Amino acid sequence: MGITIRRATINDIQAMQNANLHNLPENYLLKYYMYHILSWPQASYVATTYDEIVHDEDAPIEDPKGDTAYINKGEKIVGYVLGKMEDDPAADDKTPHGHITSLSVMRTYRRMGIAEKLMRQALYAMCECFDAEYVSLHVRKSNRAALHLYRDSLQFEVTSNEKSYYQDGEDAYAMKKVLKLDELIPGLMQKSEEIDDLTSDLLDDL
Ligand SMILES: CC(C)(COP(=O)(O)OP(=O)(O)OC[C@H]1O[C@@H](n2cnc3c(N)ncnc32)[C@H](O)[C@@H]1OP(=O)(O)O)[C@@H](O)C(=O)NCCC(=O)NCCS
Repeated sequence: MGITIRRATINDIQAMQNANLHNLPENYLLKYYMYHILSWPQASYVATTYDEIVHDEDAPIEDPKGDTAYINKGEKIVGYVLGKMEDDPAADDKTPHGHITSLSVMRTYRRMGIAEKLMRQALYAMCECFDAEYVSLHVRKSNRAALHLYRDSLQFEVTSNEKSYYQDGEDAYAMKKVLKLDELIPGLMQKSEEIDDLTSDLLDDL
């Protein structure tokens, strides 16, 4: 099963909203997804996978129409990150900075590194395309998985404790990560020893 991480498009927003409704109590109108993608097209990503091809000719062809995860025949969304740049003219801090509005991965696809990859892509793009100096987000104090991801895997810092931030009264940690482009280059996240410096001729080894 291959997973593709790619930029989110307008065609994906229905499936992103459905994934959000499945995974989180903080939900948004479709037009808010559209606003993100039209305003900052580089800041939101989806993780998709393709159905296995069935070779049995008698097998019924799956009709994905009823399943809201599908965006194309055989291609479905298994995770997303919805990101934006801070655009509130009343905000105190005028430093250009990004914000993660929402992130989730469907349950059966968790603990495979998908959320970390989605986040790294979004952070790199915010920094490269919009000169974001840092990125901020909120997370529930009880959300162990997300806290581990942000604090330990992605090195976010807690900047404050926001009392009763969520509708049900739970507190949030406000978190922040300073962005440095050279540390965010997507090739570095492969955790591989080999980094191609693109200076040697690829035919040398033949
Ligand atoms: C939080 C969430 C997005 C993580 O997605 P994921 O694809 O499983 O995360 P990853 O596989 O990229 O894991 C990243 C790190 O977090 C750790 N992690 C993931 N789930 C964890 C859990 N339940 N408990 C502890 N650590 C966990 C992983 O081990 C990994 O750490 P490592 O780098 O040390 O190996 C996912 O659990 C989810 O969608 N939850 C519901 C929605 C949600 O809470 N969104 C965040 C709102 S702020």
